[in-house]
Amino acid sequence: MRTSASPPGDLTAVRGGLVWFRDDPFLTSDEEALVHVKDGLLVCENGKIVAAGPYGDLVRDLPDDVKVVQYRDKLILPGLVSCHVHYVQTRIIAAYGKQLLDWLDHHIYPEEKRFSDADYARAVAALFCDELLRNGTTTAMVNCATYPRSVDALFAESVGRGMRLAAGKVLMDREAPSALLDASPQVAYEQSAELIERWHGVGRSIYAVTPRFAVACTPEMLRTASKLWRDHPGTLLQTHLAENRNEVKKVHQLFPKCKDYVDVYERHGLLGPGAVFAHAVHLSKREWKRLYRTGSGTAHCPTSNLFLGSGLFRMKRATNPRRRALVGLGSDVGGGTSLSLLQTASEAYKVGALRGFPMNGVKLFYLATTGSAAAMRLDHLVGSLEPGHEADFIVLDPTATPLLAARTSNTKTIHDLLFTLAMMGDDRTVLATYLNGRLAHDRDDPSAPSRTCWSGPAEVRTG
Ligand code: GUN
Ligand code: ZN
Repeated sequence: MRTSASPPGDLTAVRGGLVWFRDDPFLTSDEEALVHVKDGLLVCENGKIVAAGPYGDLVRDLPDDVKVVQYRDKLILPGLVSCHVHYVQTRIIAAYGKQLLDWLDHHIYPEEKRFSDADYARAVAALFCDELLRNGTTTAMVNCATYPRSVDALFAESVGRGMRLAAGKVLMDREAPSALLDASPQVAYEQSAELIERWHGVGRSIYAVTPRFAVACTPEMLRTASKLWRDHPGTLLQTHLAENRNEVKKVHQLFPKCKDYVDVYERHGLLGPGAVFAHAVHLSKREWKRLYRTGSGTAHCPTSNLFLGSGLFRMKRATNPRRRALVGLGSDVGGGTSLSLLQTASEAYKVGALRGFPMNGVKLFYLATTGSAAAMRLDHLVGSLEPGHEADFIVLDPTATPLLAARTSNTKTIHDLLFTLAMMGDDRTVLATYLNGRLAHDRDDPSAPSRTCWSGPAEVRTG
């Protein structure tokens, strides 16, 4: 840490309970995995965490002119990390409908067409980024629409706020309305390469090559996605995998020579570190093994899987210590019904319970922070309060609502408190969100930009 004699930097110090993970609770004991400092001090300088530990030990080294922000009786955790979400579906969240393929046709594709309009894209991107911050999500892997301007709109907003987002234009060249299809894989390559040139590495932006899913991509488009990813080191890759039984059937029909859905992606060069596969609900043992062996990541999206009736993720299989695949949490809005990763964690618990694998609060918060970051191969940067990491963190308020206060005042251990926050928490529980060591959302400040209401176009109500 900087001493009083060091040159002045951009220093922030916050005091409260500190929680983060130094190890994987799916592989080791909770005691080994969890770091909990009851009365802690977190010190950030120039956007990075430089110290985290007991207040009494660290406060001595703070320069006299640094004011400590007090969050006594609150919990300070790493910013939450969502490894799968669609910003272009923000305004179609919770649309009544049937299962995946029908819901895409009736609700999602019509909404995504609207992102050919740059003004609309800007308005929704601003709302989406503010909503992430209100919910304590500081890093996310985001699907845009087919239109490059939908990517421009998102990165302009996230860079302006200092967020670390990974995002990319969706690639699709069949089985969707023509207005949403790429003209050709070659044009899709060129447009994506231009976007990478324009945004990858700008602020904290990361480009994510985004073939929508095997149903909407020809073999040539999948190969093009692989080439794009491999031609641009440091970019990530995201797609959907085995979410719904009818989707899986269709993929078998479209790729009859492939062993299974994972094999479709593997044969087209899409597996490997830095690839994140959303849903991964209907997979065989062989498929999980290939995901594990190739170091690919998966995004568990429980609110979406329940909402669309897709199925129950097999967390026990995914995190089997002998074949531990990388798993994070994704809200998958608009299939998901909440941008809150606390609510997502709550549903992950219930899905696990139905599968005979009820996760405790340590595992749930691990998934929502370090786990998601690791699935995206960003755990050296975000998802932890360990010094050296980027200073994105949140402050959770155990007294956010009367019922939560009544319940949390009846907890005796940090395990019980974490579990209760995961079960009952939502945006009200997030008292503050910090990006790069700076306050980016304050729940109690009515003038904060992240409190503004939607002011974009209103739809004509017909009913
Ligand atoms: N599979 C292909 N596209 C989508 C999408 O937009 N949402 C979900 N949940 N699954 C998909
Ligand atoms: Zn999705």
